[in-house]
Amino acid sequence: MFPIQRPRRLRSNSQLRRMVREIVLTTNDLIYPLFAVPGEGIAQEVKSMPGVYQLSVDKIVEEAKEVYDLGIPAIILFGIPADKDIDATGAWHDHGIVQVAATAVKEAVPDLIVIADTCLCEYTSHGHCGYLEVGDLTGRVLNDPTLELLKKTAVSQVKAGVDIIAPSGMMDGFVRAIRSGLDEAGYIDTPILSYAAKYASAYYGPFRDAAESTPQFGDRRTYQMDPANSREAIKEVALDVAEGADMLMVKPALAYMDIIWQVKQATNLPVAAYNVSGEYAMIKAAALNGWIDEQRVVMETMTSFKRAGTDLILTYHAKDIARWLHEESMSTAKWLGDRAASEVQTTPVAPCIRTPGFEPLNPEQLASAPVAEETNA
Ligand code: PBG
Ligand code: ZN
Repeated sequence: MFPIQRPRRLRSNSQLRRMVREIVLTTNDLIYPLFAVPGEGIAQEVKSMPGVYQLSVDKIVEEAKEVYDLGIPAIILFGIPADKDIDATGAWHDHGIVQVAATAVKEAVPDLIVIADTCLCEYTSHGHCGYLEVGDLTGRVLNDPTLELLKKTAVSQVKAGVDIIAPSGMMDGFVRAIRSGLDEAGYIDTPILSYAAKYASAYYGPFRDAAESTPQFGDRRTYQMDPANSREAIKEVALDVAEGADMLMVKPALAYMDIIWQVKQATNLPVAAYNVSGEYAMIKAAALNGWIDEQRVVMETMTSFKRAGTDLILTYHAKDIARWLHEESMSTAKWLGDRAASEVQTTPVAPCIRTPGFEPLNPEQLASAPVAEETNA
């Protein structure tokens, strides 16, 4: 009780704050989404997502190398096919765009984890996530026939080199169907990251520009969840766990922090949160207008996802975050380096951020490393 307890004691300088900090964001937590398009030499910026591009496979490979060098362990691939049809052929064809991209990335950067979004909406002519009854104009996707397509899609993605299957279509039984499809094909060790609690959200708007997957009619409310429900999220999670999911996702993230928290409490599987396109667009737009401090808002948002219980974050900010974390680690290393000069130790300790090929800094780098700024907000 006051004045015995003065919580401000532990906030009085940055070193103390570092010592008692509960949540630490690292590059290990990040998954970077990429959009593959047919062609060569293509990098087409998405209008509603500044800094996000539709990329041809050659560019995807370049990007994958950069992502890996930044210490980000995984990408998730989405595909925009040359042709769309009612059977979503582009999704499960062995030469589909995601299959081709996955093979190329794994060949160039074998250690980078490649996740595939396993859904059909980018590949169907009507833009829904599965088969429709002939003449249906409402978008009530036929559940069980769609499972067969998802199975086929997952197997062909893994055959092409994909490491993790992430089904996102919210079909009942999709985890079980995909698990049995993968097992029958011999891929018993390929994990499934299920979009377990995925809501019918207006926050996906910019993504649908990026993936060219806006439904031509109707909406996704007969398969994605009602934003008003939380108990239902736990039901979905329980089903997916029973069906063999290895990891669970909550989507979107920002407006669904309570769901992230509840899912984390309800399961001992790793939980991912998808910081979706609309969340990205809002921060970008405000930042580009000079209305907010982009770096601080993004880092605060990511830290809050972790505080809510997420283990992994799918985010379009991933590359920026990794750069910011490296700058921070450089300045920590510089601080250690300065001390080392006057004491015995000569090798700066690499901070605990996973950075493949992280070399102890040389004196020149140390001199040019940014020094951590003491901000007081
Ligand atoms: C496909 C899918 C969507 C997203 C990820 N996978 C769109 C949708 O359901 O319409 C959205 C991602 C984002 O908004 O960033 N089913
Ligand atoms: Zn879909």
